[in-house]
Amino acid sequence: MESQTLAGRAAIVTGAGGAIGSAIASRLAKAGADVAIVDRDFTFTAQWGGHASASEIAALVTAAGQRVVVAEGDAADRSFVESVVARAERAFDRVDVLVNCAGGALTPAEDSFASTISDADLELLFAANYRSTVNFCQSAVPRMRAQGSGSVVNITSGVGHLVPRDGSLAHYLAAKAAVTSYTVSLANEIGQYGIRVNAVSPGLVMGPRTAAQAADRGAGREEARERVALRRFGDPDDIAKVVEFFAGDLSSYVTGQLLAVTGG
Ligand SMILES: NC(=O)c1ccc[n+]([C@@H]2O[C@H](COP(=O)([O-])OP(=O)(O)OC[C@H]3O[C@@H](n4cnc5c(N)ncnc54)[C@H](O)[C@@H]3O)[C@@H](O)[C@H]2O)c1
Repeated sequence: MESQTLAGRAAIVTGAGGAIGSAIASRLAKAGADVAIVDRDFTFTAQWGGHASASEIAALVTAAGQRVVVAEGDAADRSFVESVVARAERAFDRVDVLVNCAGGALTPAEDSFASTISDADLELLFAANYRSTVNFCQSAVPRMRAQGSGSVVNITSGVGHLVPRDGSLAHYLAAKAAVTSYTVSLANEIGQYGIRVNAVSPGLVMGPRTAAQAADRGAGREEARERVALRRFGDPDDIAKVVEFFAGDLSSYVTGQLLAVTGG
């Protein structure tokens, strides 16, 4: 049995209905954490063959012997977020770990060019990727500050071979760049309270949604795989392992960092 790096801790994972978020929820639970799982729509990835329900993902946590809170709603909605963090704190008595994984390149790639992308798509991408992160940080950090400890892990993007050379995904990349920048600012602000903040930038991870969209977007082909040093695309658990490292004490002297988990 793997050592329990998060025994006695309580975590919140957003985007937990998705490929990477559900892998993170499962791994943190196996590491000993109680987990609040949050998603706007737990059935979102089912249309591409992903998890079909919140209870399937909740079972990943309870199967590891940990307590679970399930919260369905929009992470860009501040009052929903405040209620979720309060629920998690009531259920688990603490909030030690926050993983902001909600988001994605959720708008049509063919309309995502820097010079033409619509205002509506800009707003959606910044709400899902950036506003969601800010909301959860602003609700969870005061609780972590009262405890005198905490770890925030933000899932960002845009490092390495993932950036399309045709200029598409402009506002998705801009929103994730905002997440990366916010990570550094927050780390600088709250390190003095014993709270660490780091970011993980995955390479191409073939979850159900991304695998389907990669085919449409011309990504994920053999030549793209050949550009990865490890010659394979990522698995959701490749990302979850690194999140576990940032979440717990193995990274106790690491903050404000961005780690590319891209296979090189
Ligand atoms: N898969 C990749 O190749 C890859 C690469 C780099 C970064 N990322 C990032 O990793 C994260 C997870 O990606 P994934 O591949 O698991 O995608 P996914 O689509 O499987 O999961 C994303 C989840 O976020 C949820 N979500 C979206 N907007 C939300 C909102 N406003 N409030 C609450 N939940 C919301 C969706 O319902 C979905 O369940 C995303 O932030 C994505 O940008 C993924």
